[in-house]
Amino acid sequence: MIIKTTEEREGIKAASKAVAVTLKKMCEHARVGMSTLELDEYGKDILDSFGANSAPQRDYNFPGYTCISLNHEVCHGIPSADSILKEGDLVNIDVSAELNGFYGDNGCSFILGEDIQGLQPLVDASKEILKIAIENIKSNGRVYRLGGLIEKEAKKRNYTTIRNITGHGIGRKLHEAPSEIPCYKDLMNRSRFKKDMVVAVETFISTKAKYVYQADDDWTLMTEDQSFVTQHEHTLIVTDGYPEILTLENGIFE
Ligand code: CO
Ligand code: CO
Repeated sequence: MIIKTTEEREGIKAASKAVAVTLKKMCEHARVGMSTLELDEYGKDILDSFGANSAPQRDYNFPGYTCISLNHEVCHGIPSADSILKEGDLVNIDVSAELNGFYGDNGCSFILGEDIQGLQPLVDASKEILKIAIENIKSNGRVYRLGGLIEKEAKKRNYTTIRNITGHGIGRKLHEAPSEIPCYKDLMNRSRFKKDMVVAVETFISTKAKYVYQADDDWTLMTEDQSFVTQHEHTLIVTDGYPEILTLENGIFE
């Protein structure tokens, strides 16, 4: 969406705030021994308190309110009573929701408790790279250049980026133009960022993988080689200078 009215600006801000607060509270609420279903239901209550509706459920019939992916699951993990959080798990929570016809999208990876698997550097790299990426988004900038920058920053840290899941435009729908904001230099991508465009920028930084595959549940995306992937995502408005980040309440950049 390219924002044209105050109503649109306020609408997108309210939806983004709802997902950011929900994400932050879910991350704080996660405990060893808790099921991802319980965590998801906690998230639903917070979305409800804003009057917001789960976007994946509403628009894609996703069997849950938020996506919760553990360890080798990369994203779109289905909350389940059988999926129990353990010490040292790499947890990714992605909250997207609709509020009064506007959408916000916000994701974050973190280590639960003690870092038994030694993945904190991967989490930190993903956050740092999202920060660098956002600093480099400006009106008229080419989307493929941003992807190239994300890939270069990952490489510098001896990591790879996932090519077949991407950020995206957002606004009146969860996924809008530009349909793909990839984490690599995709020269086929001819789109540009425009002033007042609303986009969800996401990192997919991996210890080794470049592609993800769909699991048998038809939702969860996994790496084939058991490598790990971290994701951090902000919804923002493109400007002529530093973008206006709408999901800062999630605390990713604190
Ligand atoms: Co998301
Ligand atoms: Co997204």
